[in-house]
Amino acid sequence: MKFKNIPKCFLWGASSSAFQVEGAYLEDGKKLSIADVNSLKKSDIQMDTKISSDMYHHYEEDVKLMKECGLKSYRFSINWTRIYPNGDEEKPNEKGLAFYDTFINSLVENGITPIVTIYHFDQPYHLIEKYGGWTNEQSIEDYFKYAKCLIDRFGDRVKHWITINEQSVMVFASHMLGIDQTLSDEEKYQLAFKANLNMWLAQAKTMRYLKETHPESLIGPAVSYLTTLPDSRKSKDLSEARFLEDFHSYAQMDVAIKGVIPQFFLTELKKFGVEYTLTTEMKETLKNGTANWCCVNWYCTTIVKCADENQELPLFKRISFVKDKELKYTDWGWNFDPKGLRLAMREFMFRYGNVPVCISEIGWSEKEEVVDGKIHDVDRIDYIEKHVEQLDLALADGVNIVGMNLWSFQDLLSVGDGENKRYGLVYVDFQDNSRRRIKKDSFTYYQELIKKH
Ligand code: BG6
Repeated sequence: MKFKNIPKCFLWGASSSAFQVEGAYLEDGKKLSIADVNSLKKSDIQMDTKISSDMYHHYEEDVKLMKECGLKSYRFSINWTRIYPNGDEEKPNEKGLAFYDTFINSLVENGITPIVTIYHFDQPYHLIEKYGGWTNEQSIEDYFKYAKCLIDRFGDRVKHWITINEQSVMVFASHMLGIDQTLSDEEKYQLAFKANLNMWLAQAKTMRYLKETHPESLIGPAVSYLTTLPDSRKSKDLSEARFLEDFHSYAQMDVAIKGVIPQFFLTELKKFGVEYTLTTEMKETLKNGTANWCCVNWYCTTIVKCADENQELPLFKRISFVKDKELKYTDWGWNFDPKGLRLAMREFMFRYGNVPVCISEIGWSEKEEVVDGKIHDVDRIDYIEKHVEQLDLALADGVNIVGMNLWSFQDLLSVGDGENKRYGLVYVDFQDNSRRRIKKDSFTYYQELIKKH
């Protein structure tokens, strides 16, 4: 299939995050992150971060495969604990920097644009033990020191930056921030939303710094973009569906792009028992450090109905989630609803005009087996084709979409569901110590798609 509206400069890419692919979890000075700690708690039931896809030792082979596939971009994250193993050191770990230097160079030499996520769920665990991680304002300085170090070191070659991956997901799944899960819901929300504000401030400082030092570069968050549909035509369902999108996704984009926390967010926050005291300095920090592109992670649509009309309740007590029997779902409950993507893209344009938007994650998960040396992942191929079709239509609608990075390039450790939930274009044999790679049928499909465009 050839699409008409996709520009030649489109970043056809793929995506991953450090702790999900790298392995080498304590190598070359690296220490534990909260992502490692949470994964190690499940070591008896599924794969953990110790080896995962072992990209740390396979990056040359992986870059070769990326080149063969024809990728124009590769979105990956830097493992915070390779650079600042404890998070509070004065000087970075040179071995960690050297690893990413080599990796970034090999991408650039092969014509692949690096898209770098500074922080993807992996704050150093030491900072959580020492002062409560993001719930403490000191995190703003520790993150900024780390982000600045990356920008200073790699900014000559990296022109596409992502500050924080899926902040609102971490706020609601607050074990990802290291928040004690034995606390009451109210206590957890107090801490998680405090962390939310600290992350916004840290991100704003970073975006300002990058724009001042590298004005030609792009920087913004990767927002978990929920396209939420109402279960019925009733206005109570529609308004709660909109509200979930506003609260979960658009509030994050508003703060990053407009530099202001929207009032609807602050009003809703009070229902969680949380109130922000915003100083003039904080407001200025947010206003002076805004994004000049926005990345979005988009997988499927979400369907909700109003469960309780009492508007005094916090959002999650007012809604319930619904499954549409007419849609196909993965084994993990994520639907196949490509038209939702065009809706999302158009809505982005109506809110933020011509700000470039990049899909930083999109993908289909399956349990997969090798049959006669091959993996026939037909559903993934169908998923890619139908979603690119919708992107093409969104481009025709005028949305400034600059790229699409499939989640994921190689199979990796799923955050929620271990190693059986595979997303890759490249199969990784997790039973084999050498982590053998095999190209799936979707690899060839994507390769042809890129070639045609
Ligand atoms: C996104 C994350 O939320 O979804 C990724 O940024 C994650 O890190 C992906 O892997 C899919 O979720 P899961 O739980 O299937 O790994």
